[in-house]
Amino acid sequence: MEKTEGEKKMNFDEIYDRKGTHCVKYNAVKTAQRPQDALVMTLADMDLPCCPAIQQAIIERAEHPFYGYQQFDEQLPEVVCAWAKAHSAALLDPRTIQITPSVNKAIALCLRAFTKPGDGILIQNPSYSPFRKVVTLNQRRCVMNELIQKEDHYELDMDDFEAKLQEVRLFILCSPHNPTSKVFTREELDAMLSLCRKYQVTVLADEIHADWVYGTMTAASAVDQNVITILSPSKTFNLQGMQCSFVFIPDANQAQALQHERDSLAYMNNQTFSHAAALAAYSPAGETWLQQAKAYVSQNAEIFKTMLKEADVPLMPMRLQSTFLLWVDCSGCCNNDAEVVDLFENRCHIYGSSGSHYQCEKPFIRLNIAAPRSVIEEAAQRLIHVLSKSDRQEA
Ligand SMILES: Cc1ncc(COP(=O)(O)O)c(C=O)c1O
Repeated sequence: MEKTEGEKKMNFDEIYDRKGTHCVKYNAVKTAQRPQDALVMTLADMDLPCCPAIQQAIIERAEHPFYGYQQFDEQLPEVVCAWAKAHSAALLDPRTIQITPSVNKAIALCLRAFTKPGDGILIQNPSYSPFRKVVTLNQRRCVMNELIQKEDHYELDMDDFEAKLQEVRLFILCSPHNPTSKVFTREELDAMLSLCRKYQVTVLADEIHADWVYGTMTAASAVDQNVITILSPSKTFNLQGMQCSFVFIPDANQAQALQHERDSLAYMNNQTFSHAAALAAYSPAGETWLQQAKAYVSQNAEIFKTMLKEADVPLMPMRLQSTFLLWVDCSGCCNNDAEVVDLFENRCHIYGSSGSHYQCEKPFIRLNIAAPRSVIEEAAQRLIHVLSKSDRQEA
C-alpha cells in the first residue's frame, strides 16, 4: 500500500540553503558576518524541513484567492486540548482558550493584564532572555530563583523559591525549561504550585516545549487547574513565522482582564495561514513527523556527546531531557563567557548562544542540534581538533 505524506520517512540529512528566506538565524548581525564555513547553532529555529502535511495545508489554503479577515477556526480549541492531553496529561478546557500571536507576546499581554508596574515576577535562572526583557520593559521587576546544577542536570532550590514567592505576584514557569532542558517531575510541580497557591501568586506556565520531551512530561494544568497555560506549535514544528499561540485561562476575571488587554491593542485573530498550519501540526501526520524528528535529534545528541567523550575533551553536555537545544558546560576549558565565545566562534567557527544570554554565571553554551547529522559531526570534530591541540600545546 502506498504511504501517505504523513507516513513517509523524512530525510533530515539534507542541507537546505535558507538564503533569500529572510530568516533571522542566518541574517542576524552577528551570523550575517560569519566565515564561509560557519556552523550556525544559535536560536531555537531548526534546520530540519517542516512536516510535509503542514506545508501542504498552507499551500491548499493559499490556493483560495481570499485572505481577508479571518475567523477563529472552531475545531482548533478541541484539537489543541486533545493534543496537549495526549502529550503531557494537560487538563485544559477548550472554552477557556484565547488565541494570541507569539508566546512572548502572550506573556507580555498576561504581565500587563495581571500585574502592575513595580510588581515582582519570578523566573528560574539560567533563564530565557526574552522573559527578562519583557518583564523589565513593562516596568516590572525580575526576581530570580536559581536552579542548582548537579553534575549533568539541575535541581530546585525550594527554600529560595518559597522566600522569593513572598515578593512576587506572578511566576513564569518555563516547563520544560529553556535553556537547561529540565523536565519538572510531578512532585516538583506539586511542590512549586502548592506554594504559589499558599502565597497567592499567579502561575503562567509557558509549555511551548512540552511536545518535545524524550521521556514523559506532566503539564502544570494536570497538577493545578488554576494555572494559566500557554501553548504553541511554533517550537515543536518550527512554525515561528506563523505567529500562533494559545492561552488557557481558567479564572473568568483573569480571562476578562486579558481580553481587555487584547482589545486595548485592537488585536484580532487574523491568522489565515497559521490556523491551517496548527491543525495540520496537531494531526496524525504531525505526530509521525514529530516522532521522526525527535528520534533524529536524540541521535544527534548521542553522537555529539559520544564523540566528545571518546576524545576526552573538557566539555560536558547536560542531560537532554527535552528540546533540541543542548546546554553544554564549558567550565572544564573556559573561565568565562568571553572564552566560550572565543573557543566556539573564533577558533571553531561554531555559532551558539553563550551562557550570558541566559544570565548564567558559569561558562556555558546552548547549541541548537536540530540540524543535519553532518553538521553535528563537523561541530564535534572541530571542537575535538581545537581542544586536543590546546592540550598538546600545554603539555
Ligand atoms: C521557553 C520559550 N518561550 C517562548 C519562546 C518564544 O516563542 P514565540 O516565538 O512564540 O514568541 C521560546 C523560543 O525559543 C522559548 O524557548
